[in-house]
Amino acid sequence: MPPERAVWQRFMDDARRRVEQAPGLEVRGTLTRVAGLVLEARGIREPIGAQCQVVMPGSAPVLAEVVGFSGELAYLMPAGDVHGLSAGASVVPAAPYVPVPRLGEPERDVRARSGMLRLPQGRGLLGRVVDPQGMPMDGQGPLQDVAAEPMDRRPINAMDRDPVRLPLDTGVRAINSLLTVGRGQRIGLFAGSGVGKSVLLGMMARYTEADVIVVGLIGERGREVKEFIEDILGEEGRARSVVVAAPADAPPLLRMQGAAYATAVAEHFRDRGQHVLLLMDSLTRYAMAQREIALAIGEPPATKGYPPSCFARLPALVERSGNGLNGVGSITAFYTVLSEGDDQQDPIADAARAILDGHIVLSRALAEEAHYPAIDVEQSASRVMHNVATPEHLEAARRFRTLYGRFRGSRDLVRVGAYAAGSDPLLDDAIRLQPAMTAFLQQNMREGASLDDSVEGLQYIAAAAQAL
Ligand SMILES: Nc1ncnc2c1ncn2[C@@H]1O[C@H](COP(=O)(O)OP(=O)(O)OP(=O)(O)O)[C@@H](O)[C@H]1O
Ligand SMILES: [Mg+2]
Repeated sequence: MPPERAVWQRFMDDARRRVEQAPGLEVRGTLTRVAGLVLEARGIREPIGAQCQVVMPGSAPVLAEVVGFSGELAYLMPAGDVHGLSAGASVVPAAPYVPVPRLGEPERDVRARSGMLRLPQGRGLLGRVVDPQGMPMDGQGPLQDVAAEPMDRRPINAMDRDPVRLPLDTGVRAINSLLTVGRGQRIGLFAGSGVGKSVLLGMMARYTEADVIVVGLIGERGREVKEFIEDILGEEGRARSVVVAAPADAPPLLRMQGAAYATAVAEHFRDRGQHVLLLMDSLTRYAMAQREIALAIGEPPATKGYPPSCFARLPALVERSGNGLNGVGSITAFYTVLSEGDDQQDPIADAARAILDGHIVLSRALAEEAHYPAIDVEQSASRVMHNVATPEHLEAARRFRTLYGRFRGSRDLVRVGAYAAGSDPLLDDAIRLQPAMTAFLQQNMREGASLDDSVEGLQYIAAAAQAL
């Protein structure tokens, strides 16, 4: 090697070593105020969604996310307990994320992103219960076979998405027959408390035709999380499920993150061609968490205390489920919506009804009659049923609904004996078939009903009506 070249070589080697060893420049802000739920910091200029650590000497660092700013002030929501923080604590933005280029993969955007949230994804999540930060909650040791992936995902362009065309077997007779669900559909489950939402979701988790089931338990009571996983989901449901749980006592940021994480896990499997069932309990508590955050950083309340951002967040979350790009994979999603006392004015229930492709209403009156699942078929509708059911099936459903509606409408009349048999042939049919219809709509939570059997049963009853 000529001497000049050796000199250059040494110089270059030396320069590389220096660059590699140079400490990254770190920016630190200072905690200046904590008011209610919000932390205020000066000295950092991080974008919305950036993750930071709030560090106090002598206590564990608290993770926080930038949720807003005003001039030099950054507003952060903590993801943990803020007990023990005081003015002057350091606010340290998380290191930027630089995706590692991999051979054979299409070139990705390799600009360093600010420290946005990354959470574990992969097959290793199956059968596990994790919290919104991706930490296992089931005491089965650390997650295996997972990789940290960024959480900031966007919905698929509506034009690149296949419409809902294939029926999906949910294992629940009343839904399969009268409210047929399509692969990639998004359905709301509207109900008050204690009328059987969790049990119904559990039935779907056990019997639905799906490769992977992702359950997001958002804002539930802590006891209920354990009950859902052990009793309702059961071993059979759990093996192909991922559960993300953010109980009611988790900070609002984590409750929102739980819903976003569950959706991202579903997207991960969907993008690998799997058919995913996403069960989110509940969308209302997600909106309530957003309300807490938005009010805390000073957004004015609009409808029933909900600031406008809540109504923007709902479709942003819901639009991420559905069919995948060019027919590869799908997410069929059920979102529970709390609607207390048949309150049709509840703004979240209203907003949800408008953005979902169907609603299943659970009725307290039916639950009180021990009619389970307490699905009020008259008030419920699946907006894609006409795309996924055969004409014979649709006709049978129409006849069944007519009969059932006729009976429920005249029930009080019949009960007090004010109806004389023979004066209305349709009502005669309805009265005769009522026991069969009721038995058909009820279902034991420990048994599934296939789509074919459900449709056959429906057609059998519909064909027995003579007046139609
Ligand atoms: N299919 C069913 N068969 C028999 N009993 C049922 C069925 N579904 C619900 N129940 C009864 O209703 C009770 C309440 O159900 P569940 O816990 O699912 O309600 P929930 O709507 O999730 O309530 P919460 O609002 O408290 O979360 C159950 O404990 C059970 O006794
Ligand atoms: Mg429940």
